[in-house]
Amino acid sequence: MSNHVLINIAKQALNVKRLPVLLGKVFQRLTDKKQENNEANLRWLAQQQQDFAEYAQSLDAELWQESLAYAKSLEAHANKVLSNIDVTLGGGGFYPLIYFVTRYLKPQTVVETGVAAGYSSHAFLSGLQKNADSGADGRLFSSDFPYFRIENPEKYIGILVPEDLKARWHLFIDGDAKNLSKIAQSVSSVDLFHYDSDKRYAGREQAMQALKTKLSDNALIIMDDINDNSFFMDLCLSEQQKQPYRIFEFGGKYIGMLGELALLKR
Ligand SMILES: C[S@@+](CC[C@H](N)C(=O)[O-])C[C@H]1O[C@@H](n2cnc3c(N)ncnc32)[C@H](O)[C@@H]1O
Repeated sequence: MSNHVLINIAKQALNVKRLPVLLGKVFQRLTDKKQENNEANLRWLAQQQQDFAEYAQSLDAELWQESLAYAKSLEAHANKVLSNIDVTLGGGGFYPLIYFVTRYLKPQTVVETGVAAGYSSHAFLSGLQKNADSGADGRLFSSDFPYFRIENPEKYIGILVPEDLKARWHLFIDGDAKNLSKIAQSVSSVDLFHYDSDKRYAGREQAMQALKTKLSDNALIIMDDINDNSFFMDLCLSEQQKQPYRIFEFGGKYIGMLGELALLKR
């Protein structure tokens, strides 16, 4: 690890808002036993996976074309913005899927964890804005934690989101544990939950617990990188779980969707 990185981590650790989250991450990384034995999960994902483009086309081919055109414009915008900064922020989620789902379901309340540069936030907000043309009034609540290896990480959170998309956006940056409890207090229910932050089993478990009372039976849940551990598989296969699920492969990783779009469409 370079001296720069160590200095940036030390700066974040001196911030009383950040230190508990940083210590929690270290502790949980050392004690998270459920990270082990992932083979059964990987086998299950490989057996279940399907192509999102085919699925989306079967639901609404025109909307899928709109989503692909949107994704192209987001990529051009992202290349422009990210080429003007001198830090590497990492790539985004499966934004054509995010845009498609947002347009298809027309959700009132969307919650996402993991913002980083803001590909997914941009996709949600663009979908919500377009939905407003037909009278829908959706809002996005995003939870993030500054990427502590870089200097002044706060200023890069959601850097891809332009001012004209921010009216529907509520951004919280103190880590999921604090953010999700604040978000849960501000919303009556959650229609769409996208999880793309702390990828550990325990992180996913805590986030679901934090939103438990706000996630109705009609909520769609999307989780990124479900190949990292068996949380999503365990959730789908648990006895209490009655919702259908789907698995999609994207860029060598898997994304899980709990809830059936066609059944949840308003
Ligand atoms: C993969 S990136 C998110 C990418 C984003 N969804 C997109 O499409 O551009 C993961 C983000 O989650 C944040 N993160 C990691 N642990 C977190 C935690 N405990 N609470 C909130 N955010 C966290 C990271 O700092 C990073 O910004």
